[in-house]
Amino acid sequence: MKTERTAIYPGSFDPITYGHIDIIKRAVTLFDRVIVAVARNINKSPMFTEAERRELILEAVRDIPRVEVDSFSGLLVNYAQSVSAQAVIRGLRAISDFEYELQMALVNRKLDESLVTVFLMPHEKYTYLNSSIVKELAKFGGEVSCFVPPFVQEQIVKKLRDA
Ligand code: PNS
Repeated sequence: MKTERTAIYPGSFDPITYGHIDIIKRAVTLFDRVIVAVARNINKSPMFTEAERRELILEAVRDIPRVEVDSFSGLLVNYAQSVSAQAVIRGLRAISDFEYELQMALVNRKLDESLVTVFLMPHEKYTYLNSSIVKELAKFGGEVSCFVPPFVQEQIVKKLRDA
C-alpha cells in the first residue's frame, strides 16, 4: 500500500496573499495532502485573529483539492509529527529570504532528521509580495486587488476602518 505523502505549509498568513495561494497550488502537485498550518503564537501582533486567518485561507483554497487548514502552537516539528507530515513547504521569493529560511530548515532538521523542508518558488510576479507590504499599502489607501483575493481585500479594509 502506498503511503500518503503529507506536507505542511506553515506560516503567519496575516493575511493570505496570491503569493501563498501560488505556493499551495504548486505543493498539491507534489503531495497527496497539504495542510496549511497557521502559527498561533507569532511574535508579531497580527492584524487578523487566528480564526479570521483560517477563515480567509479556507475561502482561498476552496477550489484547490486535497488542502486542509489547521493551526498549531509550539514547535513546528512536533506539529508535523502529530499530523504524520513528511515535509514542510516554504516559499522562497528572493535571496533576502534565504538566510532565515536556511536557518529554520536546518534547525528543524536538527530537531527531526526525517522532516524534509521543500522550498518552492512562486511565480516571479509575486517575488516582492508579502502580507506586511499588502497591509502597509492598504493602510495608506493603495490598491491591493492584484495581491490578495477580493474577500481578503474587503476584510483588510474593514479592519482598518474599525481600528
Ligand atoms: O509566515 P512566517 O511568519 O514566516 O512563518 C514562520 C513560522 C511560523 C513558520 C516559524 O516561525 C515557525 O515554524 N514557528 C514555530 C516555532 C518553531 O518551530 N521554531 C523552530 C524553527 S526556527
